[in-house]
Amino acid sequence: MKRFFKIGEWSLLLLLLLILSACGNDDTETEGSSGDGESVNVSATTGGDYPEMTLKLAHITATDHMWHQASEKFKEELESLTGGKMKVEIFPASQLGSEADMVQQVEAGSVDMAMITAAYLTARTPEMAGWFAPYLFESLEEANEAAASEKGQEILKKVEGTGLKGLTYLFAGQRTMVTKDKKIESTDDLKGLKLRVTPSPVLQSFYKNAGAAPESLSLTEVYSALQTGVIDGMDMDLDATITNKYSEIAKYVAVTNHMVWPSTILTNEKKFSSLSQEAQDAITQAWKTASDFAVKTRSGQEEEFRKELESQGMEVYDIDASVFDKQIKAFDKEYGGQSDLVKAFIEENR
Ligand code: BEZ
Repeated sequence: MKRFFKIGEWSLLLLLLLILSACGNDDTETEGSSGDGESVNVSATTGGDYPEMTLKLAHITATDHMWHQASEKFKEELESLTGGKMKVEIFPASQLGSEADMVQQVEAGSVDMAMITAAYLTARTPEMAGWFAPYLFESLEEANEAAASEKGQEILKKVEGTGLKGLTYLFAGQRTMVTKDKKIESTDDLKGLKLRVTPSPVLQSFYKNAGAAPESLSLTEVYSALQTGVIDGMDMDLDATITNKYSEIAKYVAVTNHMVWPSTILTNEKKFSSLSQEAQDAITQAWKTASDFAVKTRSGQEEEFRKELESQGMEVYDIDASVFDKQIKAFDKEYGGQSDLVKAFIEENR
């Protein structure tokens, strides 16, 4: 009997110790993806090798645009993964300047991360053109899969070389055509139309092929250019049409959905690789969470955004892809002919 109690006491003690050690270990492991598409496991713990730092993140959109909401998601996720050691300060709405300014700031290391449109990057990273093959994707989910694919990641890697590193892509809604007074129903209606595009040779080429007279203007210049008649309309997404209040001065939105609209998250290559592996993985994982959140949320907002613009007095209507058949073929020939990577990316996704 005495011997039985002794064994019983020891077993109880052992059980208690096991319970205590399990309670003390509150690390949770979640799976993410490293910059090159591989899976990584990040421990959400205060004990990891994370530096105490505040990362500066800049972008050009308004605070009610999806890209700002995704930035907030990234901030929340990174702070949670690193137990509050790695913080994020967000500078929205071109507070730190234009996309050109922000790229320079990241190269110089004075800004840690910037959300830069892939369209802007086509001027310095020609392979980004692959993203603007007209009507390449039917949905944001498809585009998000292409972003994670080998070819999508290969294109992202092409931003390297001037001290930059691309961490991920992040999508807004697909592109539409917003016009002040003239309703676009065919390429005939585009003839000579002064249509604003994001500064990018690729977008210029698409609209020139369609007969328009494209004007390169950065986002901050668009409202007043439309108001004063410098432009007749613009290439834009529904998201930014709402957040920039273009319905105050424009009547029509042709929902063409002719191109997807990725941004890239750029960081300073040297600064990023000087961080511990755990810190790099936490940043990568937090961006993956934020970009998946953006695609999932935005995919469910198409109807809501159309209705919102209609309620503000705009005529919102569809145009079939077949209207741009000639331009699709011309694009694939021109840009597929300039780069094997772009050609392969288009072939894989068309
Ligand atoms: C644009 O240049 O059209 C744009 C840039 C960022 C987000 C949305 C639109």
